[in-house]
Amino acid sequence: MRRAKITIVGAGNVGATCAHWCAAAELGDIVLLDIPQAEDMPKGKALDLMQASPIMGFDSHIVGTTSYDDARESDVIVVTAGIARKPGMSRDDLLGTNAKIVGSVAEHIKQSSPNAIVIVVSNPLDAMVQRALQVTGFPPCRVIGQAGVLDTARYRTFLAMELGVSVEDISALLMGGHGDTMVPMPSCTSVGGIPVLQLIDAKRLEEIVDRTRKGGAEIVSLLKTGSAYYAPAAAVTQMVEAIVRDKKRLIPCAAYCDKEYGVGGYYVGVPVILGSGGVEKIVELKLTESEQAGFQHSVNAVKELVAAMEKLV
Ligand code: LAC
Repeated sequence: MRRAKITIVGAGNVGATCAHWCAAAELGDIVLLDIPQAEDMPKGKALDLMQASPIMGFDSHIVGTTSYDDARESDVIVVTAGIARKPGMSRDDLLGTNAKIVGSVAEHIKQSSPNAIVIVVSNPLDAMVQRALQVTGFPPCRVIGQAGVLDTARYRTFLAMELGVSVEDISALLMGGHGDTMVPMPSCTSVGGIPVLQLIDAKRLEEIVDRTRKGGAEIVSLLKTGSAYYAPAAAVTQMVEAIVRDKKRLIPCAAYCDKEYGVGGYYVGVPVILGSGGVEKIVELKLTESEQAGFQHSVNAVKELVAAMEKLV
């Protein structure tokens, strides 16, 4: 059986770290692709990573390139291309520039890998994944955004730090857009099976949610030269694994919701079942009144962002 072919577009920090973890987990053979102006850089990173494989003990073929010919017939394509935030910038400040970059990447994907499942990471995420859908014309189940796994991982990390327990014992869900409007779901957050509100009061939980909402900006302000990459890349790797190993993971992703949750044709973070078909099912939860209000606020923000993008492309 042929190994999965995973192309990662953008050989910057997020892309290269995705390549690293996907290779180390032997998820498939990897193509690390960047624009021609990057010259030999993707080749250098790919070769360096290949040379780690005898030591770390993984069998993955890793190619660095600036040509979409090498990406032909990929099974999964991860789009990390675009500029990253600098301190003081919001994800939305990247809109015009990244919409053009993601549009051009999507055009190449459509030509060279018409059957691929596309995972978009570029920001502002909820608009960029919509752009990728518009340009590829792929079925929405094959164009997915990475946001919820990362946001939920940040939330789980902060909860574990607060409670002094293993991150492995925190199970949680966040919904909505990847940004200041993400919606916590305390009814879907538990610690070793115990509902979180039995262990932490509502006010402290809200502070932790707020830190989670600003989790990306916190890293940007510490790094000063760019945005987070270890956790975003780990989140992508979990999604790639769910697809290439057909794991049917139930995880939050930015998925195209039309009738679901009454969204009407936009990408928003919702729990999905992710497997070899991409988004195989959007799981519809019954939301409480305040969750519903938070979710609607988030959907409205996504709609505004998409409308602003459509004026720029
Ligand atoms: C973050 C960026 C990747 O949340 O959106 O760190």
